[in-house]
Amino acid sequence: MSLTRSRPIAWSAALALVLAAMLAWPRAYAQAPIVIKFSHVTTTDTPKGRAVERFRELAEKATNGRVKVEIYPNSTLYKDKEELEALQLGAVQMLAPSLAKFGLLGVREFEAFDIPFMFPSRNVLLRVTEGPIGRKMLRKLEPKGITGLAYWDNGFKVMTANRPLRTPADFQGLKMRIQASKVLEVQFRALGAIPQAIGFSDTHQALKSDVVEGTENTPSNIYTQKIHEVQKHLTVSGHGYLGYAVIANKKFWDSLPGDIRGQLEGAIKETTRYINGIAEADNAQALENIRKSGKTRIHVLDDNERAQWRRALQPVRGNVEARVGRDVLQAIDKEAAALGFK
Ligand code: LMR
Repeated sequence: MSLTRSRPIAWSAALALVLAAMLAWPRAYAQAPIVIKFSHVTTTDTPKGRAVERFRELAEKATNGRVKVEIYPNSTLYKDKEELEALQLGAVQMLAPSLAKFGLLGVREFEAFDIPFMFPSRNVLLRVTEGPIGRKMLRKLEPKGITGLAYWDNGFKVMTANRPLRTPADFQGLKMRIQASKVLEVQFRALGAIPQAIGFSDTHQALKSDVVEGTENTPSNIYTQKIHEVQKHLTVSGHGYLGYAVIANKKFWDSLPGDIRGQLEGAIKETTRYINGIAEADNAQALENIRKSGKTRIHVLDDNERAQWRRALQPVRGNVEARVGRDVLQAIDKEAAALGFK
């Protein structure tokens, strides 16, 4: 008797549970955060590392937690060779590779940033990255399934080796680590050195084991990768630039709800202001830390030495002009001229 009476109660309870679950499901689904995996190759205490963390803070706050940013720094998820491929496949959603690495994608205009002495000042550089030339270059990434979002600054590079590098003759026969960029290859050949492309995370070891004998990078990258511990000499040459393009998987970016995309764009804008404001000081501090370590002697080019470097590196632009695009180079010259440089 009690069994037959309890059956309808059990059925209606089960039905109520199913209904409640059906009602709750879309809400739970809507509340599941959108995850952005952001992979990069430098440590968290570099300008890029600090900027990605700032972006996470701003993005999560602006979207009220609807977006969750997972950061994979210091090549823990992908090395620089693999990360662009991972982005295109959608295994990660955002990256900030150095501009030198975009030639690998076949978008060669980005290699303009690698041409030695191309940018007479940081202000010219910022006019290019923050203006129409920079925007036009980012749009060229779209057919590759990539949305270009912003440029982030790091700074001008220094050279390191276990011998002093004062004049071009000091590079003769020296095996130099480069990022995978055709222009950087031409640059070191012009100095009589032997360039070799090596991943960022493998550079310290390659220098330690004499696979290569020297390298170029920003002080912040050199200090945080402990490159100064295996290099006795550093030359402040300011011969070339290293910056980043912040990019996203295009399919992912286009699929975001409009309000979220707008909030993320705002977070990127603010992060760009942040990194462009800290990069110079971070690099000055890193150079000071290298000096204080006592492991590396620092040499600053004097006017005469700089003139020799310029002369030796002057043919590089002509050699790569057809590859990079004459119009881009002329457009950059115009920005320099607008700031009074000839
Ligand atoms: C390098 O490979 O030297 C740099 O691109 C690393 C970085 O991302 O700053």
